[in-house]
Amino acid sequence: MHEPRIAPSILAADFARLGAEVEDVAPAVDTVHVDVMDGHYVPNITLGHPVVASLRKATELELDCHLMITDPSTYAPQLVELGADSVTFHPEVDDDPLTLVHTLHEQGARVGVAIKPAHPVSMVEELLAHIDLLLVMTVEPGFGGQAFREECLPKVSQAAAWRAANAATFRIQVDGGIADATVAAAARAGADTFVAGSSVFGADDRAAAARDLLERARAASVDATSTGGGA
Ligand code: DX5
Ligand code: ZN
Repeated sequence: MHEPRIAPSILAADFARLGAEVEDVAPAVDTVHVDVMDGHYVPNITLGHPVVASLRKATELELDCHLMITDPSTYAPQLVELGADSVTFHPEVDDDPLTLVHTLHEQGARVGVAIKPAHPVSMVEELLAHIDLLLVMTVEPGFGGQAFREECLPKVSQAAAWRAANAATFRIQVDGGIADATVAAAARAGADTFVAGSSVFGADDRAAAARDLLERARAASVDATSTGGGA
């Protein structure tokens, strides 16, 4: 239903030369994924407002911010003001996630909600009709470079089935361990948006690595559609 997209995660980039790192991938993609971690929701701290503001000045790529923080209702609207195009939060830490979805929409942003490996799709079901993106984590959030968890993929298929049954339009994003060896399985399950950190920024030719992932995702999506698999 959506064209596949690759979103390189700058978590795997060299933060001391971030503008140049983003320029490296810009010929191949239209989005970069920005992992914001607060040391509370996850046991790691990455970046926040000043970096998002600097990225906004440095690139026209869409900034897809993934908030792994305990207080998204305070910080997500601020990040949109600083230039985030899309904001994804983990809704279990917010008292009223639907209101936050509406607030961010009123600001003009696209909005996603994320589920960790232990969380079922049913946990966010009442939000699905209102969001632009469902992020199905394929690693435990907190760190790049972890192994892909294939056991998360049935949730991608469930979400795709729910979307078809309810005439919804959200994208389905996978994040964690996406590489040449795993992207096709995620695409066959029904994912259309692929976050890739190490496999893109760890490559010598980042744009080529992103294009290669996209080709593999496209081929697997076409294959899933023609054989009746996926969604
Ligand atoms: C992990 C982050 C991911 C991370 C993925 O908590 O949400 O976006 O950057 O990194 P890789 O692609 O290396 O698994
Ligand atoms: Zn992420």
